Amino acid sequence: MFNKQGGGKFKMISTVYAITLVCIGLVIAVFYYVFVNSKEADPDYQSIIKKWYGVRSKWFLFLLVLGLTVSVLTTTPFPTPDQKKEYSSDDYQNVTVDAHQWYWIMTPSTVKAGQPVEFKVSAADVNHGFGIYDEHMELVAQTQAMPGYTNKLIHTFDKPGKFKILCLEYCGLAHHAMITELTVE
Ligand code: CUA
Repeated sequence: MFNKQGGGKFKMISTVYAITLVCIGLVIAVFYYVFVNSKEADPDYQSIIKKWYGVRSKWFLFLLVLGLTVSVLTTTPFPTPDQKKEYSSDDYQNVTVDAHQWYWIMTPSTVKAGQPVEFKVSAADVNHGFGIYDEHMELVAQTQAMPGYTNKLIHTFDKPGKFKILCLEYCGLAHHAMITELTVE
């Protein structure tokens, strides 16, 4: 079920991407058509044209280089675990998380430090939020817990300790009581 839905979402993103590319292509085609079919300007404007068109093309080139540079420098890989990849259980500690109104079923509830943990998070009834907090009650990692969908959350705990699992999305009367504990050895 998970793979099928994950694949569907990926296909949708690919379709949106393809449509975007086609639209960009159309805009370029329109610009090209207008450029090719544009007529010579009035003689009165020739001096202005001569003076400013050179500036304009240099300005365009400058903006193009600036835009590309900023894009390349600021675009980093989106820090989300690969939702499609299946890991072997040798590399990852697997923890299954099921959210219910209003409790967590998490197996196992003890993991080792220094080795990545893959949480497979789902919900039995409504949307919940799976949030892992350290002993200072600072959020360490989180993902959605959704019915009918398994979200993967990969996190490596650096050192042992007691972690709290809190629900991050209002899910009804006892939302605040959805607390459990994760032990890292
Ligand atoms: Cu579960 Cu809020």
